[in-house]
Amino acid sequence: MNLTSVFDTSLLELPFIQGESGNITAINSMAEIPFDISRVYYLYDVPGGSSRGGHAHKELQQLIVAASGSFDIILDDGKVKRSIHLNRPDIGLYMPSGLWRELDNFSSGAICLVLASHKYNESDYIRDYDNFIEYKNG
Ligand code: TYD
Repeated sequence: MNLTSVFDTSLLELPFIQGESGNITAINSMAEIPFDISRVYYLYDVPGGSSRGGHAHKELQQLIVAASGSFDIILDDGKVKRSIHLNRPDIGLYMPSGLWRELDNFSSGAICLVLASHKYNESDYIRDYDNFIEYKNG
């Protein structure tokens, strides 16, 4: 059972170093985000209009950033849904485990940067929505 709700997510303002020739945002484990980073991956070349990520994780925590462009994240804890539009490289969505998520409405050229608390592990995924509801209800 995993009791996390969509209200356990948060939009984090990430620090940035501003320069005349561009900005830098640095994200450190246990400083800007509440977990140790084990993996970084990014989604790109996503065809406009397609959706990704219909799944939940049992343990994985993530920070999701629109490093370029924009997209929507639809979060679902089995009871409440919440939609968040990400469009800035200095704002990150912190997601605890145990939430169903879908990503859609990608702008052309968008890059979805993900910092993850664990290495890739297929057994951490719940890919069937009915199984997710059962998991949430214990
Ligand atoms: P998945 O997480 O299902 O992508 P999405 O939910 O965004 O559509 O991953 C798609 C494929 O990529 C799947 O076969 C597993 C593989 N993959 C890895 O091998 N390592 C990774 O770190 C990730 C995120 C995915």
